[in-house]
Amino acid sequence: MKCRVCRGGAVIELRRHNAGFCPEHFLRFCRDQVAKAIAEFDMFTPEDRVLVAVSGGKDSLALWDILTELGYQADGFYLGLGIGEYSERSASASRAFAEQRGLTLVERSLPDEFGFDVPGGAKAAKRAPCSACGMSKRHVFDETAIAGGYDVLATGHNLDDEAAVLFGNVLHWHTEYLARQQPVLAARPGFPRKVKPLVRLGEREMAAWCVLRSIDYIVEECPMAAGNRHLAYKEALNEVEERSPGSKFDFYHGFLRRAAEGFRHSEQVDDVDLQPCSTCGAPTPGEVCAFCRLVERAGGSVPVTLGATRQVEPR
Ligand code: FES
Ligand code: ZN
Ligand code: ZN
Repeated sequence: MKCRVCRGGAVIELRRHNAGFCPEHFLRFCRDQVAKAIAEFDMFTPEDRVLVAVSGGKDSLALWDILTELGYQADGFYLGLGIGEYSERSASASRAFAEQRGLTLVERSLPDEFGFDVPGGAKAAKRAPCSACGMSKRHVFDETAIAGGYDVLATGHNLDDEAAVLFGNVLHWHTEYLARQQPVLAARPGFPRKVKPLVRLGEREMAAWCVLRSIDYIVEECPMAAGNRHLAYKEALNEVEERSPGSKFDFYHGFLRRAAEGFRHSEQVDDVDLQPCSTCGAPTPGEVCAFCRLVERAGGSVPVTLGATRQVEPR
């Protein structure tokens, strides 16, 4: 197989593009795809300060690397979740990457700061670990981005992730989630702008990026995620993709182009109904936000000093 660009030896074949690439042109292809997503969805500009949520896995470290290569001002953010050795290894991978490249990594930790970890919190709240984890991440990511004065929060969700989430949302017709399944969510009072610049690239490409760039990422997936529905949707889509390359891309990007608009009206959360959480100050429809309720049930506590950073107008 030859590189589509220079006809040199190819190291990777992308069946959905019906093309092979040599290392140099594969890296260029990835950078171009990210640049294209940023432009197509109007994600951010070189003047914006970007906070990249990193987990030590291939997607988030590749994203941080690519954004830096493209000349954006991107700092990393690592949140310790207290998931045993998995969390320790993911923290070390994130720190090592930042150190090697002289980049700034902001770090926070659920156990150190809030007194609970994801396995304990999920158990106490009788929630699936990924749901307690997702909620905690969203809360602390938003808070950190706003407190640090960042213009935008970027996550490493790739095409495989987004197609699998879309598949699940369509299977069960979660219209309110379909309404928010966008590669860009605009900033609202108390919430930063959120973007997913990897929506044009798949998991395999991100792993290849890391190998070619000598990025030492943690290969293992989170142990708490084993057996969850999201992974089953991914596997189902992988089978479809295997038989019909390009299906994932068409499914997800076709949704954005042709169908997403139709679900906008299903969005339930109306900003007018949000007020500051009485404990932490984050916008919430109730008296106390879902994160603070989780912290309380898990037997932890919310430090008082964090409240002032996410102001919304009281009702
Ligand atoms: Fe959140 Fe695994 S990373 S439950
Ligand atoms: Zn080439
Ligand atoms: Zn709160």
